[in-house]
Amino acid sequence: MTLQIVRTIAELRDVTGGWRKAGLTSAVVPTMGALHEGHLTLVRQGLQNADRAVATLFVNPKQFAANEDLSRYPRDEAGDAAKLESAGAHLLYAPAPEVMYPPNFATTVSLSGPATAGLEDRFRPDFFAGVATVVTKLFNQCQCDFAMFGQKDYQQLQVVTRMAADLDIPIKVLPVPTIREADGLAMSSRNAYLSADERTKAVAIYKALTQAADAIRNGTSPNAATTKAAASLTDFRVDYVEARSAENLARVETFDQPLRLLAAAWLGKTRLIDNIAV
Ligand code: PAF
Repeated sequence: MTLQIVRTIAELRDVTGGWRKAGLTSAVVPTMGALHEGHLTLVRQGLQNADRAVATLFVNPKQFAANEDLSRYPRDEAGDAAKLESAGAHLLYAPAPEVMYPPNFATTVSLSGPATAGLEDRFRPDFFAGVATVVTKLFNQCQCDFAMFGQKDYQQLQVVTRMAADLDIPIKVLPVPTIREADGLAMSSRNAYLSADERTKAVAIYKALTQAADAIRNGTSPNAATTKAAASLTDFRVDYVEARSAENLARVETFDQPLRLLAAAWLGKTRLIDNIAV
């Protein structure tokens, strides 16, 4: 099967509308490219739930602050297309910036709730409005039945799920577990920024979270466990290590409900995030 590539909303809707008329369901996998096994797992999971899989490739300027890595974000459309084809995706939608944000574009989708729970929002205050705006557009543009989102970006998953429900967008957001390297490092496009030495050190975040989760299960308070985890990350500049309600990201004092431990930390010039269940 050959992957079809489209760049306009009309072409995209022509293909997905055709599937719908033929009685076929579809799943969308929104991406910013630089694809890795985590993204390909989202495609494969999409195909477990739907007859057709669409990946989108758009490096969304609205979710990068002025001091962030938009200009150096890794880009390789040909390589991404080859990977998507090997994973069985049927369609790649890769719009130009002016297709997504034509002149005079004036709308922002902005949430409270999970988008203002702290965590990423505290350090990247414009990030979730940028994500929610582009994902709303992608959902409306593709009109797919399912959307696949990785738990690696746990707060983003909650934001997008809330947004689709609040705006009555007829799409079901399906969570997919984080895919990890052999040593436990969560797969991420930004891992490509790491030097060999940093790559060896990067797994410490996952190890710190795992140890904190074990400590909480053994009776340590969530606050004490995450404080110790943050202190253990001596090679990093830690933004946060926190225990939150797995359901709604509310702050927690005790372990009397399913928890999620979430962390973000800088290793050199690379910001890594990860999270695990308790
Ligand atoms: O997770 C990402 O890669 C991006 O935030 C997304 C969902 C594709 C929106 O640009």
